[in-house]
Amino acid sequence: MVTVVTHPLVQHKLSVMRDVRTGVKEFRELASEVSLLLAYEAMRDLEVTQEELTTPITTAEFPMLSGKKLALVAILRAGLIMTDSIVQLVPAAKVGHIGLYRDPQTLEPVAYYNKLPTDIAERRVFLTDPMLATGGSASAAIASLKEAGATTIKLMCILAAPEGVAVIERDHPDVEIVVAALDSHLNDHGYIVPGLGDAGDRIYGTK
Ligand code: URA
Repeated sequence: MVTVVTHPLVQHKLSVMRDVRTGVKEFRELASEVSLLLAYEAMRDLEVTQEELTTPITTAEFPMLSGKKLALVAILRAGLIMTDSIVQLVPAAKVGHIGLYRDPQTLEPVAYYNKLPTDIAERRVFLTDPMLATGGSASAAIASLKEAGATTIKLMCILAAPEGVAVIERDHPDVEIVVAALDSHLNDHGYIVPGLGDAGDRIYGTK
């Protein structure tokens, strides 16, 4: 299932990110802001229970977060900007990291780094990668989360291509994708069209 966050603030910020004239500083700020707004939507179904609290006026029941604790997991490197901003909203969340590269021979994703919270099986996991392009890395990352015991996983991306969405829906139909926009297609170099270019390069100012 794909949820596209169509809120005008998200769409405006994403349009500025797409603009080739947007520099590193502004791109980073916008990526952080869009990530927070995506998290607001992705976490809409967090469980709450009523707890008794005393205000300066009276005692009454109020909703407080309950249920599974949270884990944010970044796919390196571009996913870092998303977890770094989202953790401000959920400061008790644990944060994991998964690094993958594509084997030049087989073109399959290979994990070079994997550091996850040891209790990930008991946590709701929000996996972050700004760009869902071919879906190969995200699918492999979800597989390694499942291997570690995670059962409740949402994938958060800023932009997705239909090709990547199809791969996640085929490999992991239980994983909801939350995204700011679903673009047209991938070009011959694996870039999302119209896209925003290489998210990692634009965040970190590399080429
Ligand atoms: N990764 C990116 O950073 N950009 C794309 O367009 C595709 C994959």
